[in-house]
Amino acid sequence: MKPRKDLITIESLSDEDIHTILDSATAMKEIFTKSVKKVPALKGKSVLTLFYEPSTRTRSSFEVAAHRLSADVTTFTLATSSVVKGESVHDTIDTLMSMKMDYIIVRHKNSGIPAVIARHCNASVINAGDGAHAHPSQAFLDAFTIREKYGEIAGRRVVIVGDIRHSRVARSTSLILRRLGAQVAFMGPGSLVPPKEHTGVARLHTWDEVFTWKPDVIYLLRVQNERIDSPFFPAADYHQAFGVTEERLRRIEAQGMSIMHPGPVNRGVELCDAAMDYENCLVCNQVENGIAARMSILYHLTPGTLSHD
Ligand code: CP
Repeated sequence: MKPRKDLITIESLSDEDIHTILDSATAMKEIFTKSVKKVPALKGKSVLTLFYEPSTRTRSSFEVAAHRLSADVTTFTLATSSVVKGESVHDTIDTLMSMKMDYIIVRHKNSGIPAVIARHCNASVINAGDGAHAHPSQAFLDAFTIREKYGEIAGRRVVIVGDIRHSRVARSTSLILRRLGAQVAFMGPGSLVPPKEHTGVARLHTWDEVFTWKPDVIYLLRVQNERIDSPFFPAADYHQAFGVTEERLRRIEAQGMSIMHPGPVNRGVELCDAAMDYENCLVCNQVENGIAARMSILYHLTPGTLSHD
């Protein structure tokens, strides 16, 4: 893999970059089986997590990943920062760069902010989710989880169900899976699924079409209420129309399909309770694999080199 400073989108990566990061994630996961779950790869390096939007999985996963590589981690907490006094992103970055960070992991509600920060500083910048644009580390952990389950991604069928239009996960994960040879389809509420001409991804319209298509993986998305101007329809109606109900779960079980979800899961909306206990529900695998994928991403980026995005 050529030296690369930042990870902003899947689009910016070569096939070699994608395969290298995925393959190393397997080696990183082997570290989890050791009694000392730590290697010195990033000893002496500084990692800052800079999250302007809430996160449970991504932030803690990057922090655990950085600790397991022996980096020093600083957490920027928005609620107690000077951002609440009106400090701009630009000034916050200048302040934080004076602290000579090597890696900055950024989440922001506005698309494009991680790329702006990447151009502005020498640190390696990792996009941890920007608006409805991209979530590349999620794409890696999703691809890794499917590869771990099925051995091979090429030829697998994955349907992504829900609010595609506002989902950075749908954009990044569908792209990496297609680059790796999977067949991907979208299904969801009419106004929230862009037409195939815009995405290049086939659209299914009903659950019956989904079951006829016979996906290996059904990937549910959270409704992005924070990115929708007017209120969406009630949770119970959404569950009946687009969620994995108990009746649909029985069909999923009968066909041995896997269920994935990036989290946070809204029980009773995207997934019924029983779906979370289903043996082929891979949600916890995704969380564990997120640490390995993010260790690999951190390991392969090179602070101080030119930005590629
Ligand atoms: N999947 C994901 O991005 O989850 P968080 O919002 O909890 O980080």
